[in-house]
Amino acid sequence: MSENLALESPSMSRRQLLNFLTGAVVATTASTLLYPAAKFFIAPSEVSEDGSILAKDVHGNLIPAKQILAEPVGTRALVAGLNAEPTYIIVESDGTLHPWGIVDNCTHLGCTFPWNANENQFQCPCHGSRYDAEGRVVRGPAPLPLKLVKVKVEEEYIRFSPWIENDPRTGEKPWWV
Ligand code: FES
Repeated sequence: MSENLALESPSMSRRQLLNFLTGAVVATTASTLLYPAAKFFIAPSEVSEDGSILAKDVHGNLIPAKQILAEPVGTRALVAGLNAEPTYIIVESDGTLHPWGIVDNCTHLGCTFPWNANENQFQCPCHGSRYDAEGRVVRGPAPLPLKLVKVKVEEEYIRFSPWIENDPRTGEKPWWV
């Protein structure tokens, strides 16, 4: 009896080893083949080490950059940005996004406002303030240019981070820092 076991044990071990090796090869092959697909379906981390966050739509879904870049040049697309602030991102003629986004928060009393493509302005409906295409005040009562945030595309998604350098429109320290 014990001799039978002694004879069967090595045989079982070889079978188990073969099964293990076969499984390992299949798993390695599958992971190699599936990695690009998994990478496509699994979104990157929403909050990065540098505090930047991913842009989302009104339903809280991540927005693939290609979805925005498919829009016409000059589009101001409204998405949820830092601190969930609605933020306009801009499609450039070279197929990229403008490096800054414009926060949809009027510097007069905080109303949100639409982009008027015909007049190339942001126009606040509350008290008539107007801003140019880059968020500079064209007409008051708004006292300050619109707040900016940094925009970059990373792993096919749009990422926002605070703009703390000089305001590129004025060359001065931003009022929001
Ligand atoms: S809140 Fe925009 S003009 Fe007053």
